[in-house]
Amino acid sequence: MLEVSKINTFYGKAQALWDVSFKLKKKEIVAFVGANGAGKTTLINTISGILRPVSGSIKFLSKRIDGLAPHAIVEKGISHIPEGRRLFPEMSVRENLEMGAYLPRVWKQKEETLEHVYQLFPILKERGGQLARTLSGGEQQMLAIGRGLMSRPKLCIIDEPSNGLAPLLVREIFQITEGLRDRGIAILLIEQNVRQTLEIADRAYVLENGRVILAGEGKKLLKKELIKKAYLGL
Ligand SMILES: Nc1ncnc2c1ncn2[C@@H]1O[C@H](COP(=O)(O)OP(=O)(O)O)[C@@H](O)[C@H]1O
Ligand SMILES: [Mg+2]
Repeated sequence: MLEVSKINTFYGKAQALWDVSFKLKKKEIVAFVGANGAGKTTLINTISGILRPVSGSIKFLSKRIDGLAPHAIVEKGISHIPEGRRLFPEMSVRENLEMGAYLPRVWKQKEETLEHVYQLFPILKERGGQLARTLSGGEQQMLAIGRGLMSRPKLCIIDEPSNGLAPLLVREIFQITEGLRDRGIAILLIEQNVRQTLEIADRAYVLENGRVILAGEGKKLLKKELIKKAYLGL
């Protein structure tokens, strides 16, 4: 579904990604884990068109998407749920959700999609008229995911959804992520919460200083010494 080949991304003269390659198949959760500053957000900003790679290629459903504008990439079926949620705090929950459906392709179906999202997150329906800033952290993350689903994506890219959430909510967010995969949406998940991520990821990649240093099935990586020592504190 997604094929990233040897991408190199820079901020000015500073190189942030070095020959990063990976594949994501339909119905997979593929995860990228790594420390702060490893290049995870840079990677997904490059995929979603916010940054441009200097070299390399990105294909989605067999067509090149590198070089396309972010809205054109959303139009193709990739939804990016950014780090830090990026909600519109002074708009209502419902208005935030509608902002996710601004594309012509999906705007007509927005009421139907909204019902879908409300089924998935009943709390958002209950709080539909409230301002986004009045939601709890967990509810805000649900709203960010819900808004991402409003464009009816085939692939959801989620950047650190568990960041800043209490353990119980972290579990819920991971369950929601698995639920999306089970509904047929592929997931590219970025996380610092390595253990829980590797437990749900079909495959995972470890990013260090802008390079992929390790890749494999999520559960197999959990057993690797390097992962245990560097990321699980064992
Ligand atoms: N807007 C930016 N301008 C310059 N350097 C940046 C910018 N954003 C990130 N970087 C640098 O790129 C590297 C990777 O950052 P980032 O992709 O945000 O990592 P992660 O998401 O894994 O924490 C870091 O060295 C960071 O300082
Ligand atoms: Mg980041």
